[in-house]
Formats: sequence, structure tokens, C-alpha cells
Amino acid sequence: MKSGRSGRIRTCDPCVPNAVLYRAEPHSDKRPAYSVGFGALQAAEMRNFVPVKTGFETSILPAGRAAAEAAARTLAAGGLVAFPTETVYGLGADAANATAVAHIYSAKGRPAFNPLIAHVPDLAAARRIGRFDARALKLAEAFWPGPLTLVVPKADDCPVADLATAGLDTIAIRIPAHPVAEAILRAFGGAVVAPSANLSGHVSPTRAAHVESDLAGRIDLIVDGGPVTVGVESTIVGCFEAPMLLRPGGLSRERIETVLGTPLARPPVEAESDDSQPLAPGMMASHYAPRAPVRLRARDVAPGEALLAFGPDRLPGQDAGAVMNLSPAADLDEAAANLFGYLRSLDAKAPRAIAVMTIPEEGLGEAINDRLRRAAVAR
Ligand code: TXA
Ligand code: MG
Repeated sequence: MKSGRSGRIRTCDPCVPNAVLYRAEPHSDKRPAYSVGFGALQAAEMRNFVPVKTGFETSILPAGRAAAEAAARTLAAGGLVAFPTETVYGLGADAANATAVAHIYSAKGRPAFNPLIAHVPDLAAARRIGRFDARALKLAEAFWPGPLTLVVPKADDCPVADLATAGLDTIAIRIPAHPVAEAILRAFGGAVVAPSANLSGHVSPTRAAHVESDLAGRIDLIVDGGPVTVGVESTIVGCFEAPMLLRPGGLSRERIETVLGTPLARPPVEAESDDSQPLAPGMMASHYAPRAPVRLRARDVAPGEALLAFGPDRLPGQDAGAVMNLSPAADLDEAAANLFGYLRSLDAKAPRAIAVMTIPEEGLGEAINDRLRRAAVAR
């Protein structure tokens, strides 16, 4: 694909030489924003895209102090920043800002809300968001910073948004071993959730140009720190009763097992599929399910039911029980940001069931409906 440079419009910041700024093509149904300066996408690829906020300018800054400060400012303002880690480039957002997290999913065109990894600069910061038992601490001390992600129970006052952990009570945490990532994390001061900085379905980016070709016009800033060293994602270990290898990656199983002194358990097969054996709560990246039954596509609200509403319409019977509206303005990104938190709040009222209004199957609606369907079948 020809990497046209037509989107490059001006240098971004006079203090930062070599900075370039991209402007997305103005949005219309015929010219989606992701066409920024690049060749036309195949129809098959286009089906996977979610329309995103358009007219976005993507700055590209060479790594350095100015870039770290710009990244921190952008994150604090709820923006999206791609930055290098030793494994792959990540697409970061303020972990505590549910709206920013929702924008990650829409920028990537992610079809589902997979839980994300929270990146922090040091162990003290990790322990503010997760609870580490002796084995988790041992692994953290042996391999952090480095290409290892640990899944641990969320800390009691964990500020990370429910959407970032997909409503789970566990959280995936890692300290990347990359000076640019570290500088950004320190300058920002909070946890940064970051999946790989590519469009959903594309391979993970190992240099800034890969990020640019996937995400220019869809995110705020790319910090260019050169090619990464590891090139595959981090290894993920679930620190459960038996530590479990959830994803092989940049750190070998053998090295982890040597430190643990025991073999890593294998995840149950088909752990992600709906018809799998039930798993112990919190064991896997399974799915948040409320205790109350969930009733989809509700057109009315029965006595004793709570309502998870969407959009401006009202349903017969809704005045009798608890109602939370994911987005009165029918904004799917806003609805995504509220989804898990609102489900939890309604569930806490112990309703007979949670009735859910119909949510359109477009944009982030696809991922919202996916999670709601799983919540509705999970018993
Ligand atoms: O190397 C990496 O890990 C890169 C860089 C950017 O840090 N990030 C990355 O993120 O690969 P992502 O979103 O592509 O992969 C995150 C993985 C997913 O497979 C997700 O299911 C798992 O982490 N995960 C996140 N939270 C989890 C949890 N609470 N329990 C189990 N798995 C979890
Ligand atoms: Mg990925």
C-alpha cells in the first residue's frame, strides 16, 4: 500500500523539530476518516471498521522530554497516545477515564471489549491498583520492568474504569521496560491502559510508521521511539490459586517456572467460548455477569425489574423501578463508557431482572451487545 504523505500538513510544535501533524479527511459516508493519506481499503477490511470521531489531527513527535510532556497532557485531557514499549507499540488512554477508554475501542475498531493491560512505571504504582500475593510479588520483582503482565485481584480503591477491565474483579498490570514508556508514565502519574496500537485484526505495530498507517487521523498523538526490541506482546500470567499462563509472549514459560519453582497451569480450553465449562470466578478473562438475570431488547419494564436504558425514549412501566440510562443522547461511545458501571449499580439493587433497551448494532454498539448477550446467558 502506498504510504502517501498528503495528510502531513504542518509542523506541530516549533520547539520540537521534525514534529508532523496529520489531519483526517473530513468525514462523509463516502470518505471515512481512516483513509488519511493512504490507499483505499478493501471492502472486506472496511466491514470491520467502526465509525469514529473524525477530523482528528494526529501529531507525531520524536521521543524526548517534550514528547513525554505532550503525551502526559494529552492523556490527562482524555486523549489517545500511541507510544513504544519493549514489546509492541501501545495505544494508551488514562485508565481512570472511562470515556477515554471507550475511545480506544472505537479508534481500534475493536469488535469486543477485551479487558486491557494497565501500564505503570513502578511496583508502588502497581500495588495501588492491584493486590499482590507472595507469588505475584516474586514474579514482579524478578521480571519487572519487562515483557510480563500479571493478572491480580483489583485493589479495593482501584481507580481503573470498569470498562478497562471489562467489569472483571481482576486487573492485568505491567511495567514496560522502555525508557520512552517509562518517561510518559512518570510524566502522566496515573495508570495507562494500552492495547497494541493497531486496527483490530491487523498485526501489532513494532515501529511508529505501523501505528501511523493504521491510526493516523483516529488518535491524538504518536510518540516515535524507533523500532521496538521484543516484537511480540507480553506474556500474561494469571496469579490465581495455581499461577496460569494466559498468553505466551515475550518472556518464556521456562524462565517464569524457574522463578516460581512450579509449572504454570494451562488455561482451560475454550475458556473464551460461551458453551465452555463454567470457570471459577475471576479465573480467566471471562465475562462480567450480573447476579440478576438480564433481559434484552425490552419494550416494557415488568414489576420488580430495573431498566438499563439507551436513548431518549421511555418504556411503559419504567417509573416503578431503578433506571439508568447509558446515554440519553444515544451516543454509543458514552454508552460503552457507562456499561459495566451501570450494570453493577443496577445489580446492586437486587432487581428481579435487568431489562435492557435495544442498542443499535453499529459502532461500539456491536461490542456493547456482545457483552450484554454474554451477561444474559451467563448463569
Ligand atoms: O505487550 C503487551 O502486552 C502490549 C503492550 C502495549 O503492553 N499490550 C497488549 O495488549 O498486548 P492487548 O490488549 O492486545 O492484550 C491484552 C490481553 C488480552 O488478551 C486480554 O484478554 C488480557 O490481556 N487481559 C486483560 N485483563 C485481563 C484480566 N483481568 N484477566 C485475564 N486476561 C486479561
Ligand atoms: Mg493486540
